[in-house]
This record gives sequence, C-alpha cells and structure tokens, in this order.
Amino acid sequence: DIGNAGDTLGMEIFVVGGFVRDLMLERPIEDVDVVVEGDGIVFARYFSSIHHCRFHQHRKFNTAVIIFEDGFKVDVASARLEYYATPAALPVVENSSIKMDLARRDFTINTLAISLNAESFGTLIDYFGGVRDIKDKIIRIIHNLSFIEDPTRIFRAIKFSNRFGFRIGKVTANLIKNALNVGAVKHLSGLRVLSELKQIFSEDNPLPAVQTMADYGIDKVIHHDLKLTDTTCALFRSVGKTLAWHDLLYSDDVYPRWSVYFMAWLHGYSFTVSTQIADRLMFPIKEKELLLEQRIKAAQQIRLIEKKHPVSNQQMYRWLIHFKTECLLFMLALTKKESVRKAISHFYTHQRKTQPLIGGKDLKSLGITPGPVYSTILNKIIDEKLDGKLNTMEEEIKFAK
Ligand code: CTP
Repeated sequence: DIGNAGDTLGMEIFVVGGFVRDLMLERPIEDVDVVVEGDGIVFARYFSSIHHCRFHQHRKFNTAVIIFEDGFKVDVASARLEYYATPAALPVVENSSIKMDLARRDFTINTLAISLNAESFGTLIDYFGGVRDIKDKIIRIIHNLSFIEDPTRIFRAIKFSNRFGFRIGKVTANLIKNALNVGAVKHLSGLRVLSELKQIFSEDNPLPAVQTMADYGIDKVIHHDLKLTDTTCALFRSVGKTLAWHDLLYSDDVYPRWSVYFMAWLHGYSFTVSTQIADRLMFPIKEKELLLEQRIKAAQQIRLIEKKHPVSNQQMYRWLIHFKTECLLFMLALTKKESVRKAISHFYTHQRKTQPLIGGKDLKSLGITPGPVYSTILNKIIDEKLDGKLNTMEEEIKFAK
C-alpha cells in the first residue's frame, strides 16, 4: 500500500535501516522506517487520508509518523537532493537522494534499503556493502569522520556488536580509539551518554558491551574511578538470571530493565562517587534518587535480611513493601543465599499485593470512630492475611469487630 501511494504521487519509496537489517538477520522487527524521495510529509498526509490513519508531522525535520488504527507506526523521512551539500554537477542517477540519505548513516549494516514502488518492489539497495558485512558479521562505519561527527556512534557500535555478536572492524575500532583520544566522549553531554547507556543496559545481555566499553576505556572517561571488576561482572550475570526468571513469570509487570543493570554497574561505589557519576550523566531527579538512595537502601536491606533470616512473613513484608520492582530484582541479584532469594521471591509472588478487602468505609459502618485506630486495624488485617488467614470480606469484618 505504501508503494502504491508512492506510485500515485510519483515518489520513490524505500523501507530502510534497522528494518532491512533485522529482516536479513531474521530478527524480530520493531520499527518500520521509510524514506521518500520527495516530501515525506506530503506522502504521509496522502497515505493517511486514503487509509484512515492518523499522522503527525515534524516540519523542522521534514519527517512524519503514520499511525494505523491498531497503533502500528511507520516513520517517514524525506530524502531530497536539496538537503545535501553536494556539487550540483553530479548526475542524479549516481547521486540519488536515497543514496545520499543512506550515506549519512552510521554503519554499513544500517544502510540497506528495499524499494516499495510497484515496478521495483522488493529490490534490495546496497550501496555500501551492508549485505557483505552482515554476512561477515562486522560493524563498519561508512566514512572516517563518523565518530567525530557523532560520538554517540561509539556506543552504538558497541551496542550493535553486542546485540548481533558482530565484531567491530579494525579500521572502525581504530577510529573509535582516535575519537576517544581527542575527547569525543569527554565532551559529549551527559544526557546523550545516558541515553546510549540506557539503550545498552536495556539489551538482553549487556555484559559483553560493558566489557567492551571498559576495554576502550570509556568507563574511565565517564568517571576516573569506574573500573570493571570481576565482582561487577558476576553481579551482571546474576542480574541477567534474575531478570530472565522475573520476565518469564511476570511478563506484564513492567519495570525499567536498564535501571537494574545500572544499579549493578554502580554497586560498590561510594555515595560521593555515585553522585558524581549521576551528575556527569545528568540523571533526572527521580532516576538519580533510584540509582543513589534506593540502590544503597536496597543493598543495606539485603545485608540485614541475610543476617536476620529467617524472619516472620510480617517482618519481611514491612522490610520490602516500599521497594520498587527494580530494587527487589536488584536485591535478588545481590544475594548469594538461596534461602534469602527464596524468601524474597515468596514475598514478590505471594505477599507484595496483600491488601485488606475492607476499607475505612466498612470500619465506619461498623461504628468505629475514624482515627489512627483505622490503620492499626487494617495493618493487623494485613498481618493475618500474610499468614494465610482472613480470606474473605466477612472474615475481615468479623476480625475488625
Ligand atoms: N543513525 C545514525 N547515527 C546515530 C543514530 C542513528 O546514523 N547516532 C541512523 C542509523 O543508521 C539507523 C537510523 O539512523 O539506521 C535510525 O536510528 P535508530 O532508530 O536508533 O536505529 P535502529 O537501527 O533502528 O536501532 P535499534 O534497533 O536499536 O532501534
């Protein structure tokens, strides 16, 4: 349909980038990006009008998003020759706007495109050797200044290399080192580094990427005290196992996956050093609170639990109820004691959602005068429920009386 709309408007349309890469790698497709030779906004408006989709436009970047009824989205970008500073004399065939668009991208594996117009439908476009590099499992930049122009690509190279199990090409690796030597990451804003790190820590298994960052000395650029130790690596593995366990059993309980790995990365550093790292990375206030206060509290709590274990259900509940999912998962990863792990997962599975079925209104209708006694009664009900007593509303009312 997209190709047909392009034909009607006389525009060449291509699906590009990650979509084509993931198709070739037989990996699940997440985003669909198309490039239009012409005005992408005009295309998106036309397509949306005939297919009853919604669309948003970004005039500044000449991009648009088409949103289908079921929420599926297609990003549309414009490739127009006038955007590119090239000698005007170059013939258009050799220097088509799709080629120029692809030439601005980061790695060869991201420069593939597939034509969607009827006549050429399905034709694979590979100007920069992307197919060969996917076959050879290699991450290569397209031009030598790539990392200087956009140092976030250093993190992206490591992310893709880790995600696909590709190696970083020799020239590309040397260009990363050069860029680091001239301070490319040092001068990058905290927000941009943070965004890249979050992406890396959101991957299935970020440990190899963290090790590669350490090999390049990137952690030292972020903070001179950062040093990847065997303990941190072991903790990363433990987080991996914990998250796999959790995600299998509780797929609808969402939490920021990256934050658990971030806590593991910062574990062991003093409050002062952690604060300096958080400030360098310009963490938003809420996330900073999680990475500093909550993380340290979680680490202290788990030590206390390890010392005092076994304790009553009620004690465990009071200790753990205020921790967010990501902190509980971090605690589970931290402890080496199987019995403690069991107790925390028991809390997580059976007790975390424990709440009285009755509320203030019910207590009032029992003739109890409102006051602090309400929370005493409701807490007592929770205590009983934690031991498997008081299963129905009637039982709770009887108990309250
Ligand atoms: N891109 C780039 N330089 C960057 C970021 C992005 O050249 N610093 C290009 C890449 O070539 C990529 C495209 O912009 O194909 C879209 O970026 P993004 O959505 O981040 O890339 P994906 O390849 O889809 O990555 P992911 O699978 O992680 O979403």
